[in-house]
Amino acid sequence: MHRRKLLAPSFHGRHLHAYEEFMVEETVREAKTWPQGVEFATAPGFMRLTLNIILRTVLGADGEHLDRLRELMPPMADLGVRLTLSPFTDRGRSWGAWARFRRMRREYDTVALDLIDSVRADPKLQEREDVLAMLVQSRYEDGEALANQEIADELLTILGAAHETTANTLTWAVERLTRHPELLDRLVAEVDDGGSDLLAATVLEVQRTRPVITDITRSVVAPTMPLGEWTLPKGHQVVFAIDFVHMDETVFPHPEKFDPDRFVNARPDMYSWIPFGGGTRRCIGAAFANLEMNVVLRTLLQNYEFRTTRAPDEKWKSRGVTWTPARGGRAVVHRRNTAHILPHTAPASMTIRRTSDDVG
Ligand code: HEM
Repeated sequence: MHRRKLLAPSFHGRHLHAYEEFMVEETVREAKTWPQGVEFATAPGFMRLTLNIILRTVLGADGEHLDRLRELMPPMADLGVRLTLSPFTDRGRSWGAWARFRRMRREYDTVALDLIDSVRADPKLQEREDVLAMLVQSRYEDGEALANQEIADELLTILGAAHETTANTLTWAVERLTRHPELLDRLVAEVDDGGSDLLAATVLEVQRTRPVITDITRSVVAPTMPLGEWTLPKGHQVVFAIDFVHMDETVFPHPEKFDPDRFVNARPDMYSWIPFGGGTRRCIGAAFANLEMNVVLRTLLQNYEFRTTRAPDEKWKSRGVTWTPARGGRAVVHRRNTAHILPHTAPASMTIRRTSDDVG
């Protein structure tokens, strides 16, 4: 909790605005690599995009360290997830998947610790706005600074937690929008007019109907804990089924209907809209992720036309910790003639303050 206090401010309110510009830049850069007029899976592109965005947010400018982490993170995250779910623990052998993971982890530490040293030595440290610069300068309540290894650990947690979750949600957004032509038309009209309310509501509804994490766990640490009609003993675990809550018709009328209008001018309730979990361990990147998803989708809708489809809904596929559309969020896009579009007047960060920041 002490470290969380140092980490959380980087992802809140006033800092978010600083990240918006390069979120647009990265989206434009990624979308230029997409094929036009042919069907393709959007998931790999969103993975690249969200990794690049979080790397720039955390580490600041481009550079050699960032390039190395860009290569290292995807295979390390994939292997890490497989090992998390594996029944076998690390026996310290010099071969096999655990040994591979330990090698990757050592390489990560080498790159991250070298980077932290160079940030500490940066004469312009105080002017920097990236998360790493903030962590290097932050102090615990007793005035002690974070050790380099502690910072490296926190960075790894952020990089792991941030990119796949956001990428999968964006992939679901494409899957949902291409199956809802009327909504798509309204969204395009809204972004062309510089608005943002319906898009913000759409992001909330994508997360309600397709939460990419469906279970979170808590352990009972008190001698007993009352929960409804039960008394839970110490040591027991409680698993919250996020998707069950989101599909409860007493909470969300007609829960199976994909209906972003339910969130237009209505804040989601933090005890029932829970894609980011809840309580003291709620996702620290919630406001950041929602800003990012709004900025990415707005930029894509402004610049690309998405062809709608009558194909059946994509099924849910497990990637270990997260869920993603089984066919990778397939889409056909065309570049739009954008000469007539107004610059957006309501920054996505304003929209976010109205939603997730308030929720969290
Ligand atoms: C759509 C994107 C995201 C989703 C759906 C998501 C979801 C979650 C969930 C369900 C948890 C567990 C919460 C709990 O136990 O109550 C969590 C924790 C966490 N998330 Fe996210 N997350 C997303 C994006 C991000 C981003 C962008 C960051 C970093 C910038 C991030 C950083 C973290 C961290 C550090 C934790 C651990 C917090 C703690 O244990 O104190 N997440 N996230």
